[in-house]
This record gives sequence, structure tokens and C-alpha cells, in this order.
Amino acid sequence: MITSHGETPALDPRWGENTPTHDPQVLAHFEPRHSDILITTAPKSGTTWMQQILHQLRSGGDTHFSSINDVVPWLEKPNAHQTWQQRLQQFAELPDPRIFKTHCTAEQTPGIDRVNIILSSRDPRDCCVSMYHHILNMTEATRAQTGIPYPPSFDQHVEQWLAGGAWYRNIKSWWPYYDHTNVLWLRYQDMKRDLATCMTQITDFLKWQITAEQKARALEYSSFEWMKQHDEKFSRQDSTDKPLFKPGQFIRKGEVGSHQQLMTAEQEERILNQAHQCLDKDCLRFLEL
Ligand code: A3P
Repeated sequence: MITSHGETPALDPRWGENTPTHDPQVLAHFEPRHSDILITTAPKSGTTWMQQILHQLRSGGDTHFSSINDVVPWLEKPNAHQTWQQRLQQFAELPDPRIFKTHCTAEQTPGIDRVNIILSSRDPRDCCVSMYHHILNMTEATRAQTGIPYPPSFDQHVEQWLAGGAWYRNIKSWWPYYDHTNVLWLRYQDMKRDLATCMTQITDFLKWQITAEQKARALEYSSFEWMKQHDEKFSRQDSTDKPLFKPGQFIRKGEVGSHQQLMTAEQEERILNQAHQCLDKDCLRFLEL
């Protein structure tokens, strides 16, 4: 939007800072619909898995897309080939029900009282380890483009991850919405234990009718094995892009408790202490922390 003086008006600071993965213009001007579904997560909590699950449930089993981000876009992520207005136009043309992924906090999420929100949360220790490998597994081109350096050591990665605080900010901001009727909060450990039941929770929440055959396909295509085998569908910003990660490394291990192989007791304590300092007791209990 341009004022009569030709200037772009300043945005409300609630939409956040402009970064390579966060465009406040898109958030401020996005037009949410009642049928929209926003997958909201702290990074490395199973976001891509939830993108795939929802796309499979919506489509009844579709393997023809070349990048998951084409069919379930990342809401606030700028695209180098588009202005923010073009990005919004692309979103406006998507058929209902639209599904987006976001890492926004509750405050930054447009249409929070109108859209359907599905959260996936994961143990912060596993998220921290997963992020370490995420950085190590970037291609050299991605590293050059993003300017993200190799962490000098795992311990320094833990320090930077704690200082960045994205996991804590995200969970703290969403907890007050836990029992809202338009919010469904699923835990990674439950999805690992019994994905079929989690899928039923999702279809009940969204009031989607699916057949047993469609559900069986959704389960197969959302399995770790299937996604690992088709890693190239999940490791690009969109189908016009090259893979951002080394082959087969984005869908990496997919385990609960995998931090135990890398993290010292002292590192675990630092991560858990920060959680205990900033999160509500009920939230910690729910997250099994
Ligand atoms: P690991 O690095 O621990 O293997 P995000 O999509 O939020 O970046 O999360 C990535 C994590 O989700 C990675 O964890 C990845 O392996 C895991 N993941 C992706 N697909 C999965 C699936 N089908 N089942 C279990 N975990 C999956």
C-alpha cells in the first residue's frame, strides 16, 4: 500500500522484523479465510511432516507434487523471484482449503481468531540437535546464500540455539491458546507413537470426511520411510529451486530422544532450565518436560 505522498506506511511492529525467512509485509496484508489451516511450529518440530500429513489428508493421497512447499507454502518466507504483492496474489489464487506453514509466534499470526491452527511441538533437546544437523547438512550453495556458518562445536551451537530462543518464544506465545476451539495441539512423540490416531484427531478437528483407503494412503505417504525415500520433495523452497540440503539429509532420523546420542547432561540441563524459567507449569507437564 502506498500513501498519497508515495511512501509505504510503517508497519505495526507486531509483524516482526524483516529477515531472510520472515516478511512482515506478507503477514500484515495477508487475507485469512475461515477455511485456512495454519501449521504453526517452532523450527525442527516436525513442520514438514505436518505439511505432508495435511496435504495427504486433504488430497486423499497425492504423490505428484514436486515440492511440498508448492502445495503447502511457508506463509512468511520471502521468495527471491516474487515481490510480496506477487506472493500474496499467488496465495489468493490457491483453492480452499488452503494450508500454510508458519514459524510465527501467536502475536504475529494473521487471522488467529478465524483460521484453523494446528500446532506440532517437540522436545526442545531434540529440536536443538535436529537444528545442528540441519545446519551441517546444508549444501555449500545454501550456506553461501544464507551466510549461516558451520557451528564451531556442538556446545557453541547449543549456546547460539539458547540465545536465539525461537523454541521458547514460540511455545510461550501459543500456550494461552491451547484450549481454543480453533486450535489443535499435537505432540511429535504422540505422532511417532500412533500416527493413525493423530490423523483421526486432525480430520475430526477439521470436519473432513475421508475413506479408509484415503487414510491408508495418507499414512503410507506420511511415513518416515516414504518421506526419506522422496527427500527431494521436502528439501527445496519450491519446485523452481535446487535442493537446499545434501541428498537424503533433510528427512534425517525422525526419532524421539535422539539428543541422548550427542548431548551432555550439562547441555540438557541448560535447555531444560530455560524452559522451566519461561513456561507455565501446565505447559511443561503437557510437553513432558
Ligand atoms: P531429525 O533431524 O531429528 O531427524 P522440521 O520439518 O520442523 O524442520 O522438522 C524436521 C524433523 O522432523 C527432522 O528431525 C526430520 O527427520 C523429522 N521428520 C520429518 N518427516 C518425518 C516423519 N515422517 N516421521 C518422523 N519424523 C519426521
